[in-house]
Amino acid sequence: MSIAVFASGSGSNFKNIVLRSRVEAWGRAVRLLICDQPNAKVLQLAQELQVTAYLIEPSSYPSKKAYEKAILEILQEHGIEWVILAGYMRLVGTTLLQAFPKRIVNIHPSLLPAFPGLNAIEKAFLHPVKVTGVTIHFVDEGMDTGPILAQVPVSISEIDTLETLVDKIHQAEHNLYPTIIKQLIETETKWRRKEH
Ligand code: GRF
Repeated sequence: MSIAVFASGSGSNFKNIVLRSRVEAWGRAVRLLICDQPNAKVLQLAQELQVTAYLIEPSSYPSKKAYEKAILEILQEHGIEWVILAGYMRLVGTTLLQAFPKRIVNIHPSLLPAFPGLNAIEKAFLHPVKVTGVTIHFVDEGMDTGPILAQVPVSISEIDTLETLVDKIHQAEHNLYPTIIKQLIETETKWRRKEH
């Protein structure tokens, strides 16, 4: 099974997925990192973890379609079957969605459909709600709108600050995301075995 992770930022989820895949022997599941930001810390993490990384900047292409076509060629070259978004700060377009139907997964730091889009943790903290959380969902053309695969709640207590809430959310993300990815891979492997 081969996975590409797309990320634009600090890459804590990327690192955690790679480490869990190694500890739990999903094999060399995470084959690639695709990053759109030249200064993203995740690029350095990929080097440290010896994961092949591609920096593909949208500004180098005449259109979103051309940008996604360039990514698609790389994914196909490497035999990628699943795309895992981990802090990838762009809407995925039709070129990639059509090439990977129900095979692009995202993590969002709220209990969707509450607080979609940017700054979801801050929005929940300032709202204020007592419970927020993490959602993992298939990606469609909307902003955080695809079918939900898993959710976990995170409570906001009187003594939480934005910083402690961010830590709690990241902790929940790091527990949940690899677990769900592993389940997706295992389910697919079972179906493949049944077909043969
Ligand atoms: C995570 O909170 C994720 O839910 C959101 O972007 C953040 C990425 O964090 N989509 P990191 O780069 O993995 O640390």
